[in-house]
Amino acid sequence: MSKKIEAEKTISDPQLLKLEAQYCSWGDTVHYAKELNIFTRCEGSYLYDQEGTPFLDLQMWYSAATFGYNQPRLKEALIRQIETLPQLACQYLHKEKILLSARIARDIEKKFSAKGRVHFNVGGASAIEDAIKVVRNHTKKNPVFAFMGSYHGRTLGATAITSSYRYREKFGHFGDRANFVPYPYCFRCPLGKKKATCNFACLQQFERLFESEYYSLVNTKTRQCEFGAFFVEPIQATGGYIIPPQGYFAALKKILDRYKILFVDDEIQMGFCRTGKLWAIEHFDVTPDIMVFGKALTNGLNPISAIWAKEELISPAVFPPGSTHATFSSNPLGTAVGLEVMKLIEDADYEKTVPLKGKYFVARLKKLQKKYPQVGEVDGLGLALRIEICQKDGFTPNRELTDEIMNIGLSGKLTAGGRRQGLILDVGGYYKNVFTLAPSLDITEKEMDLAVDLFEEALKKGIAATA
Ligand SMILES: Cc1ncc(COP(=O)(O)O)c(C=O)c1O
Repeated sequence: MSKKIEAEKTISDPQLLKLEAQYCSWGDTVHYAKELNIFTRCEGSYLYDQEGTPFLDLQMWYSAATFGYNQPRLKEALIRQIETLPQLACQYLHKEKILLSARIARDIEKKFSAKGRVHFNVGGASAIEDAIKVVRNHTKKNPVFAFMGSYHGRTLGATAITSSYRYREKFGHFGDRANFVPYPYCFRCPLGKKKATCNFACLQQFERLFESEYYSLVNTKTRQCEFGAFFVEPIQATGGYIIPPQGYFAALKKILDRYKILFVDDEIQMGFCRTGKLWAIEHFDVTPDIMVFGKALTNGLNPISAIWAKEELISPAVFPPGSTHATFSSNPLGTAVGLEVMKLIEDADYEKTVPLKGKYFVARLKKLQKKYPQVGEVDGLGLALRIEICQKDGFTPNRELTDEIMNIGLSGKLTAGGRRQGLILDVGGYYKNVFTLAPSLDITEKEMDLAVDLFEEALKKGIAATA
């Protein structure tokens, strides 16, 4: 073995960080944390650093590793595929791709009474690009709606329908920038209303825009709308795990149908039982025209992504071969794991267990909310949970405290049962003051108790440090 290879085996964290600072682009990561962690192992709900310190992960790779790290059944499926057909160009067929597509399309057909097809790509944003192509091809319209607070990815097309200008600022003019509409973020209502009495005032405001051509959306004589689709996150993910009120999406869909505007449901972060149902949109009594998914489709192993679209939007007659293509889309390792994920969901009882676990977790977090005014809001649907961190008034966003708590968790210096422990938290939200929790769906009650204890320790330390 060469000396170089030998040296790499025993390289220390500080040495690695020095190399990273010099040779890794920081443009492809977020580098949010004060100190960067290097992890060497993962299992279940935990990441481990070089010293073996366990970090309880409450965000599971932005919900990609939804079924736990190193999940034995998914690992086995991957190994089986490595030993049989690990590589295949996607112009040829393999069994797993066909069976996975059939399972997903049949599930959607059963739930939403809509026939359709599944179309693969490699990452979430790439699948969003494919959805944009399907929309343009079908409607012959480029402009689309999306929500304020939305996140659909960072390719150029996905960035154009992602609300933050920060992501566009350095990259030229975005002629196809979406028309952004306020999301029903009831804790911070964009209209200052109260949820119980608002009567969806924000939606009424949107609907009013279709009354006159002077509001810029429609020709009221021809009833033609300039916009082809509305891209929707059923629960706004990066925006802070915001759960819309019941009835909102159904009412929105009615408006969109009047003007033949397609409803594109981005399930990339919330799909695959995160909310207790396979698709988050199932909670809201809406049939989407297109669905987009990725992340947990393969539990983060050999990632692939996909869209499902109604037959009339994606049949070979209207969306022929080569309409999109990526070398690695529908690769056999990814589809084999995806198929096993679908089987795992069928065998497990996530529709029952996830809501129960979510309820338990939220109840424990609500106790913290009572004790600490800085915990402004706690909410959740299934195991998609949010903790909004505020000033002492329980409302003004407190980004400084949020960052402090996140960094304390990542320092790995919390204690539990007499040993060092870390806590992985992800921050989202319009004011970067929301912990968006996406724990493993197999998290145990004991781990949830530990999570709350560690969070409280980090919160107390954070409050003391920022006081
Ligand atoms: C709702 C949503 N859409 C799209 C994306 C982009 O997916 P990817 O990062 O795989 O490109 C994400 C990623 O976080 C997401 O949460």
